[in-house]
Amino acid sequence: MEREGYKELLKLCTMMIKLIPQMEAVTVGVIEKIRVQMREIPIQQTVNLPIKKQSYSLEQVLREANLSLYDQFCETLYKMGFVYIEKALLAPYLQGSVLIRVQHLLGRLVKEMNKRPWELLKFASLPLSEEYFLYHSVNVCILSMNIGLGLGYSESDLHKLGVASLFHDLGMFQLPRVLLESPREFTREEQKQLWRHPALGVKKAEALSFLSSDEVKQAIYQEHEREDGSGYPEREEGEGIHEFAKIIAISDTFEALCHTRPYREALLPHEAMVSVIKMAGKTLDRKIMKVFINRMALFPVGSFVFLSTGETAQVIEAHADSPLRPVTRVVFNREGEPLRFRKVIDLKRRGSIKIVRPVTLRHHELDGNLPLLI
Ligand SMILES: [Fe+2]
Repeated sequence: MEREGYKELLKLCTMMIKLIPQMEAVTVGVIEKIRVQMREIPIQQTVNLPIKKQSYSLEQVLREANLSLYDQFCETLYKMGFVYIEKALLAPYLQGSVLIRVQHLLGRLVKEMNKRPWELLKFASLPLSEEYFLYHSVNVCILSMNIGLGLGYSESDLHKLGVASLFHDLGMFQLPRVLLESPREFTREEQKQLWRHPALGVKKAEALSFLSSDEVKQAIYQEHEREDGSGYPEREEGEGIHEFAKIIAISDTFEALCHTRPYREALLPHEAMVSVIKMAGKTLDRKIMKVFINRMALFPVGSFVFLSTGETAQVIEAHADSPLRPVTRVVFNREGEPLRFRKVIDLKRRGSIKIVRPVTLRHHELDGNLPLLI
């Protein structure tokens, strides 16, 4: 490789390494610009780069750098979701510009979900430490759009489903904070207050022009209705429930089970999956559940598993016909050390390797797994 090209590569890798810890300062635009630049670097020959006393091929470094930037891009996109929810709630006078931004964000999400859904899905079951309802809304949006893709939705339907699921809990933000953060099971009176949130959500949506379509309002109103009529607020059954609301019901239940609430501990994503599957045909729609399982695998996309090789891996893609044998990416080797470069194992093709058990990893453990190139 030309000396100039090599210098340029090192400059870009250095820039990327500097960007990673500064999540807040990075915009999607900046990341995209860098990724475009990186794609333009010609890889005509393999040059070994000495990094931390080990040697890696230039192609390996570039591929990893590009994937890391893509991770960064998806995380920024993910975080933009709750920024806009907050904006819509706190500054309704800005709603014109919020509408444009939300549409732009959803357009991006639809595009990325179409290409590599697992890159966004991996956030949905990670343990959370901050504002639960904001993260929850974005997670439900991503999980619902994944189901929408499985149902073969058009771009415009995916967009509507995205808006409805991103704002499905709008009414929750109208309730007293002390109620939402209650560290115990709700009393009968508190429960009644909570059951008002679908109606409060619709009222709020009526005031926000970008949420006022009938389908979106119906989804917000019916997301807690259940197939057997055991839900609220109208005890509506099967056919009477809008498909968007049925989709949100599945994503919402799964997402909530994956996270610790003040009154109960989180389940592992695999356990949450087993729990929601048991609800199919009773409280949750059987047909939509089938699509959800096909798209998520029994060990859901984003969850971590211990392999029979002694390595720890993250599930990155599901095989619809083989829910117990997804595609995984090894994050820790058998000695428990983070892998510097990605190693992907497709369990469907590697019949000798099995998932031994699911494991929980926290954010800080994952941070240690970010590739360190320089
Ligand atoms: Fe809700």
